[in-house]
Amino acid sequence: MSRGPDFKAVVAQHGSPLLLLDCDVVRRQYRSLQAALPGVALCYALKPLPHPAVVAELRDLGGCFDVATSGEIRLVKAEGVAPDRCIHTHPIKSDAEIRAGLRFGIRTFVADNPDELRKFRRHRTRAEVLLRLSFRDPTAVVDLSRKFGCEPAAVAPMLELARDLGVTIRGLSFHVGSQVAEPKKYVEAIGVCAELIEHARASGLADLDLLDIGGGFPIAYGGTMQPIREFCRPIRQALKQLPRGVRVIAEPGRFIAGPSGTSVSTVIGRAQREGRWWYYLDDGLYGSYNGQLYDHARYPIDVPGRRGPAHPSVLAGPTCDSIDVVREDIPLPELQLGDLVVGRMMGAYTACSATDFNFIPRAKIVALNVQARSRRAD
Ligand SMILES: Cc1ncc(COP(=O)(O)O)c(C=O)c1O
Repeated sequence: MSRGPDFKAVVAQHGSPLLLLDCDVVRRQYRSLQAALPGVALCYALKPLPHPAVVAELRDLGGCFDVATSGEIRLVKAEGVAPDRCIHTHPIKSDAEIRAGLRFGIRTFVADNPDELRKFRRHRTRAEVLLRLSFRDPTAVVDLSRKFGCEPAAVAPMLELARDLGVTIRGLSFHVGSQVAEPKKYVEAIGVCAELIEHARASGLADLDLLDIGGGFPIAYGGTMQPIREFCRPIRQALKQLPRGVRVIAEPGRFIAGPSGTSVSTVIGRAQREGRWWYYLDDGLYGSYNGQLYDHARYPIDVPGRRGPAHPSVLAGPTCDSIDVVREDIPLPELQLGDLVVGRMMGAYTACSATDFNFIPRAKIVALNVQARSRRAD
């Protein structure tokens, strides 16, 4: 947060629980990744935080967008983003979804297998395709190359199939996984793609001129992490090996959204159980903290405004389910009803996958430090 919001005041105004979305941080993260990857067009992947304020800020910074569904298309459209600043990256989609993308005016789609490629035959005059490859990275917290992506050896046969279908293959894409620990896999993937592009050109199969290096750029959930410029140094080097005329794009999600979100919840009950305080919050594992399950994230948590000797305590969510425990054995001063509990780095893969199980409302998202002009068409 820029100067740090007054959590009590924001809760007094908007209620609890909240997810504060700091647009200053969205802009800062975008700019720092852009500086770390000069010449690479950043297409914000909407999935981790599909919020109009994020779209508007990035739109005004000249960013592009990675959409995966017609719902995400509706959002970018509502924010006045031009379709030529969007790519559709879902490797497996229905024809209705493809048509929704085409209707909006998106031209670039992704496929990773022959059946998906065949879906584009009927749309061949209006669509072009990136072939997505799989490069599995054991250091990635979320492996996105198990469910999607083809082997490098499958590229040439798919280029031949595309030629027979009359479908244009524009380039290649990959996603080494989300929250990767080191840049090695990007470097390997870029090297393999460079060879595949050269081979496709030399054999006359296709003149590939676009490489999409995906998302995955990591953020620090605790502890330290090398600055993004350092992390990207080997990637910048690797990109120099690409054949001439290849444009590069990336699909960062977490790196832009994660640090921008702060969860604020309230202690609504407490009880002593087996010698420890259990504090019950109005947000939990079925709400903003769901990323602890789905995204394997562990968010830094603190209790601003409450000091005293720390004791191992339990933070539990508001539902009736016993799995709904946010943190076991967290050292905390004794909390009182009404105290606020703050989760940091909670912008990505939190609100987007929250539920209202038990009819317990999800956290309201409050955008702070908004600079973007209200909706405009490019
Ligand atoms: C196709 C695609 N692009 C981009 C992303 C964003 O990845 P990250 O949040 O790790 O940057 C994802 C995440 O699931 C994805 O599936």
